[in-house]
Formats: sequence, C-alpha cells, structure tokens
Amino acid sequence: MTFAVPAETYDRFVGRYSYALCEALAEAAGLTASSSVLDVGAGTGTGTRRLVELVGPERVAAVEPTESFVEGLRVRCPGVDVRLAHAESLPFEDGAFDATLAQLVVNFMSDPEAGVAGMKRVTRPGGAVAASVWDYPGEMTLLRSFWDAAAELDPDGVHAVDERTRMRFGRDGELGDLWRQTGLAEVEEGEIVVSGEYEDFEDLWAPFTAGVGPAGRYAASLDPERQEALKSDFRRRLAVPDGAFTLGARAWFAVGRA
Ligand SMILES: C[S@@+](CC[C@H](N)C(=O)[O-])C[C@H]1O[C@@H](n2cnc3c(N)ncnc32)[C@H](O)[C@@H]1O
Repeated sequence: MTFAVPAETYDRFVGRYSYALCEALAEAAGLTASSSVLDVGAGTGTGTRRLVELVGPERVAAVEPTESFVEGLRVRCPGVDVRLAHAESLPFEDGAFDATLAQLVVNFMSDPEAGVAGMKRVTRPGGAVAASVWDYPGEMTLLRSFWDAAAELDPDGVHAVDERTRMRFGRDGELGDLWRQTGLAEVEEGEIVVSGEYEDFEDLWAPFTAGVGPAGRYAASLDPERQEALKSDFRRRLAVPDGAFTLGARAWFAVGRA
C-alpha cells in the first residue's frame, strides 16, 4: 500500500522526474513511432504520456496495481489500454509487444525475478525489455539526502526502512545482472540523469508528509517535533535557496532483448 495516495500527491513527489526519465528509457530501448509498448507499473501516467506522444495511444498498454493511480492513468492517457495488474501476472499473450518498460518499479516488485520473466514473456522475440531504478545510495539527491538526515536523527528507527540500503537494484550493475539471469540477450546498462523543478522547499516537502513512498511513509509516522527536526536537517543537507531550484537525479537502467 506504499503508493496508495492520490495521483497528484505522487506527481509532486518523484512523479515530477517521470516524464524525462521515460523519454530517456524509451530511447535506450530503441522505441520507434511504430513500436507497440507496455508500461509496467505505470503509476500516474506521467511517463506513459511520453510513450503516447512517441507511438500514439493505440500502441500503448499500461499495467498498474495501485487503484488510485489507475484512475489517474485513464484520465491522463485516453485511448491507452490500462489494466489493474502486477508485473508478476501480466494479462497479455506471449510476445504481444515490441517493447516492455518498467520505470522505477522492479525494486518494488514482491518477486522481481518473476516480474521481469513476465515482461520478457509478453515481449516479442528480439523486442526490448527495459527498466530503471533510482541510484538510491548515490545521486538520487532527493531521497539520498532525506535518508541521510533521517538516519542521523534516528539511526535505529530508520534501519529497517532506509531505501539507501534496503532497495534492491539501486546499485550500478544490479539490474543488468537480473536481466542476464532472466535470459535476456544483448544486455546494455548505463545511467540516466534527469532533473526536477521545485517552486521552493515547501513544494518539495509537502508530499513527504502525505506519506507517499517509503520515505513519505516514514516522515508521516513521526510526531510533529521529530518531523520538524527531520525537515530542518533535510533542508540543511540539500542546501537549497529560499525560492525556486532544480535537483538532479540519477537512475540506473538496463535494456535487453527477449
Ligand atoms: C515509483 S512508482 C513509478 C511509477 C511510474 N513508472 C513512474 O515512473 O512515475 C512505482 C510503481 O510501481 C507499482 N508497483 C509496485 N509493485 C508492482 C508490481 N509488482 N508490478 C507492477 N507495478 C508495481 C506501484 O504501484 C507504483 O505505481
């Protein structure tokens, strides 16, 4: 239930990076205007919208297991075949798509090996299977700085939920290893660097208190005093100005052929 929040809340959280990230992942996957593509764990559809622009809604399908996001997806991506489903049980025929993408999703799957095997199954032979995961311990500035602050203030409390250490596939090479284990061919790996625009620090902080994602869930669980201390240390670490600013974010990607 980590993502059971309104679509707008997710959009203000990491959703603001999704469009540019998806553009880069689609390019890495070699998508062309005539490709059919499945977006797995499409979230609120900010990335899916980029796929629609690239190939047209009739060639895009999207699956997402969080109901509140599925509603957002349907509104945002009219004409797209949107289904409530997990990667581990994709409701499509074998070889149905030219490309299957999962942006910032593999690390949230309860069975990533089965999820990626499912992505491979629904991709035609020679088609692309691609994914990205944040560089949690490194250059995903927003989340790394948040957990740096949380761990300093509450080392025991964050231990079990700290994304820097507990997220699988957040280190260079880990997604590629999963891709090869799944039997995907011609595996290519690399980094995607994007940026997010913020009106001010309050704009950045608000979705954390709404409980979105593991970081938001942790922030929202704190009493007001501890939450205020975390907010203040987080801001100090980001060293952002009073007004508008931009933050960079790096994700690792892997692409292979089914
Ligand atoms: C960080 S969000 C990424 C959303 C979107 N791809 C984006 O880039 O904005 C992670 C998404 O993965 C979805 N998810 C979690 N487990 C999943 C699974 N097993 N199969 C498919 N999607 C899953 C969540 O519901 C959530 O929407």
